Amino acid sequence: MNFYGAAEEDTADIYQSLLQVREMFDKVGTPSFFGDNMCAIGRNMAFARDQKFMTAFQDNARDVADENKMWRLHTYCWAGRSALDLPGDFVECGVFHGFYSAILLQYLDFAAVGKRMYLFDTFRGLHEKYSTDEERASVGNAYALGADWHEEVRARFASYSNVDVIKGLVPDVLVETSPERIAFLHLDMNAGAAEVGALEVLFDRVVDGGLVLMDDYGRCENSELHYALNTWMTAHAHPILELPTGQGLVIKRK
Ligand SMILES: C[S@@+](CC[C@H](N)C(=O)[O-])C[C@H]1O[C@@H](n2cnc3c(N)ncnc32)[C@H](O)[C@@H]1O
Repeated sequence: MNFYGAAEEDTADIYQSLLQVREMFDKVGTPSFFGDNMCAIGRNMAFARDQKFMTAFQDNARDVADENKMWRLHTYCWAGRSALDLPGDFVECGVFHGFYSAILLQYLDFAAVGKRMYLFDTFRGLHEKYSTDEERASVGNAYALGADWHEEVRARFASYSNVDVIKGLVPDVLVETSPERIAFLHLDMNAGAAEVGALEVLFDRVVDGGLVLMDDYGRCENSELHYALNTWMTAHAHPILELPTGQGLVIKRK
């Protein structure tokens, strides 16, 4: 169990209390989920019994922060799976080291899928052209350090001939190279201007019934991102469904 948005010392008491509550539910045999800033009681959580999903998840989760994202990753994999029968490719803006995409590609046996997946990232962190000081501060200013993990991610997905790991600044890079039709668009850049910029270029290309999943949309500490996405999607007649996982979901209607 872990929490975002507050100092550890301020949440220590809450954390201990929640652990006790979780144990109490365990004792009476009521399933519960405490993690990723979400508490859910008495839910089916059928995804935890989806062996293929759980294998892909466990093969790639490296620490407690990753493990806590199980429900979020289920939503992401559900969206990808739902997009399989639609025309168009998959696009992810904000890849980091490829944790999410590794799980999705494994879960869907993507090497055998007749689609491409385009993975876009600076592979250096947030750029000041498309992010605010607050957004960069909230994730640590990795871009300024100049380190680059593009090759590491390329190597991670080298066995997939239908996956392109593209280094570049979103949205600028999308104008140069991106698919004409999109079945699934995942945005996870923690930067409102970058995500709205991606929508400006790509939303028209999302097919009828195509899915747009926005990570962190519902998280309080990402209020600038929330405002930017909400304003853009509302103006484009696609109000966002805020999910308990902190993600936002839109299903495109032509
Ligand atoms: C929260 S991480 C993404 C996490 C990722 N989905 C995963 O599976 O772990 C955000 C990523 O967005 C990237 N990013 C932020 N702004 C960007 C921009 N304008 N263009 C390209 N990448 C960007 C950062 O480099 C970082 O890797």
